[in-house]
Amino acid sequence: MNLQALIETAHAMVAAGKGLLAMDESNGTCNLRFAAVGIPETLEMRRDWRALLLTAPGLRECISGVILYDETIRQAGSDGTPFLQVARDAGLLVGIKVDTGARDLAGRPQEKVTEGLDGLRERLKDYAAMGARFAKWRSVIVMDGSHLPTVACTSANAHALARYAALCQEAGLVPIVESDVLMAGTHTLARCQDVTGAALRQVFEQLVRQGVVLEAMVLKPNMVIEGLDCMARSTAQEVAHATLQCLLRAVPAAVPGVLFLSGGQSGELASSRLNAMHQGQARPWSLSFSFARALQQPALAIWAGDSANRLAAQAALMHRARCNSAAMRGAYDDAMETL
Ligand code: 13P
Repeated sequence: MNLQALIETAHAMVAAGKGLLAMDESNGTCNLRFAAVGIPETLEMRRDWRALLLTAPGLRECISGVILYDETIRQAGSDGTPFLQVARDAGLLVGIKVDTGARDLAGRPQEKVTEGLDGLRERLKDYAAMGARFAKWRSVIVMDGSHLPTVACTSANAHALARYAALCQEAGLVPIVESDVLMAGTHTLARCQDVTGAALRQVFEQLVRQGVVLEAMVLKPNMVIEGLDCMARSTAQEVAHATLQCLLRAVPAAVPGVLFLSGGQSGELASSRLNAMHQGQARPWSLSFSFARALQQPALAIWAGDSANRLAAQAALMHRARCNSAAMRGAYDDAMETL
């Protein structure tokens, strides 16, 4: 492992004004997104969509890197240029999703544990040889009433994340450690803060135990938000305050960056909440975004699988990327949405 190179990559991923474009949906998830807007669920359509994203003019101004899925990292666009080359030419770091998905936890079918450790060392070696610079593994935490998540779930996921992260660093890849407390449910903002904080503390305990170098990783957490079915709705400022307080209590200052997932928030809400986090309290890490839906969704609806809509879809993607880049300076404003 060249530790200095890993640290430099981690810092490049969270460079000022830049975040990651998560475009690593598994084929199943990508097909679900396509089906929702009437796009045929084919390999060619997934290829054309990923090509559209990677070639959006000016992407590198707001996006430091892209997270790809196994199908995409091995794929070429319709003109035959490998996507790895397309990403490099666009000035983007390439990352790869390496978990194999969240499955039911044994004996606890309401809860999930993420799988993919078997054979991971070999797969990471292959991805690093292809030119990937970082990797992603997502754990999923379901909240329900006061009894979920169980410690069985959070500890199993934290342990897997730490083993994944240690293997990544051994292979010369920066691990994105993603802990996703889902928004589904009736839970309050305060309960989301408790659960998110408890999950993150377990993750860092395991990361340290497995010898992961904190300076050479990045964290990808959920924002602290009340459940989708909670009646009391928080302002962007309240979400920002609860999220920062949670992270300051749980995330060591040695970590270079925290990049949020969007988790199903609209693009506008995700930008305004990220913006609010950059308007007040100082924090020791760079605070950025690694959104999939909150960057892609408006563009996907415009594209709708029709090449005639390609430029308009790329413009919509760039709009969201610029909004989030502005949010990292605390300079995002609702008025940006009506320009
Ligand atoms: P969302 O931003 O749509 O939550 O996706 C982020 C991600 O990478 C999920 O693993």
